[in-house]
Amino acid sequence: TCSIYLSRHGQSEYNSHGKIGGDSGLTPMGEAYAQKLAEFADRVITRDPENGEARPVRLWTSSLQRTKLTARHLKHDKVKTGGGKDWIQMAPRVLRNLDEIYAGVCDGMTYEEIRAAYPREYELRRQNKLSYRYPRGESYLDVIARLDPLVQELESYREDVLIVGHQGVLRLIYAYFAGLDRDEAATLSIPLNTVIKLTPRTHDCIEERVLLHD
Ligand code: G3H
Repeated sequence: TCSIYLSRHGQSEYNSHGKIGGDSGLTPMGEAYAQKLAEFADRVITRDPENGEARPVRLWTSSLQRTKLTARHLKHDKVKTGGGKDWIQMAPRVLRNLDEIYAGVCDGMTYEEIRAAYPREYELRRQNKLSYRYPRGESYLDVIARLDPLVQELESYREDVLIVGHQGVLRLIYAYFAGLDRDEAATLSIPLNTVIKLTPRTHDCIEERVLLHD
C-alpha cells in the first residue's frame, strides 16, 4: 500500500456522555468534524501533491452509525486511473470487522458504572487489558484476530486508503504499521478530530498527524 489515513469517527453522543460502545449518532462537534474531514480529503488526501490532480483513494468504514455518518460528506466522483479504468473515488466499503471492540454486558455503560456493577471485571481488565475479554464480549486479542485479514488486504493495495474507525480498532491497526508491541497498543491514545497518515516503508513507517479544527 502507499499511505493509510486513520481517523476516528467524529464525537458521538455516547462519547460525550462517557459511555462505551453502542451505536449512537454524532454530536454537533462530531458533525463539524465530518465536514472538515470531507474538505481535507478533497483538498489533500485525494490530490497528487505534485500536480493537484485527483488520485484514487479507497474508503473503509465500520458498520456502525458514527463512522458512516462521519464519512458521508466525502465526495465520491469518478476518477481516471493510470490504467484508464473508472475509479469511484471514496466508494465506501462497510466492514463489520472494523467495528469497535464489543464490551458485552458492559456495552453502553460508563467506566464508573462498570466499576460499580462489576468491580472484579474492572480490576481484571486493569491488570491485563490486552487479553481481558468482557463477559459476552471481546478482548483486544479477539479484535486483532478479526482485523488480521483486513491488515493483509491493506498491505496488498496500491492505492491510499482512508479508514474511518474507532479508537480500539485504530489502536491495533496503528500499532501494527508503526511496529509497536501489542501490549502498548491496548493503551495507546488515538485522539478525536485527528487524521493520522501512515506511510509504511521497508524498515519503518513515516507518520504525520493533522488536527482538523476551526
Ligand atoms: O469503546 C471503546 C474505547 O474507544 C476504547 O476503550 O480503552 O477501554 O479499550 P478502552
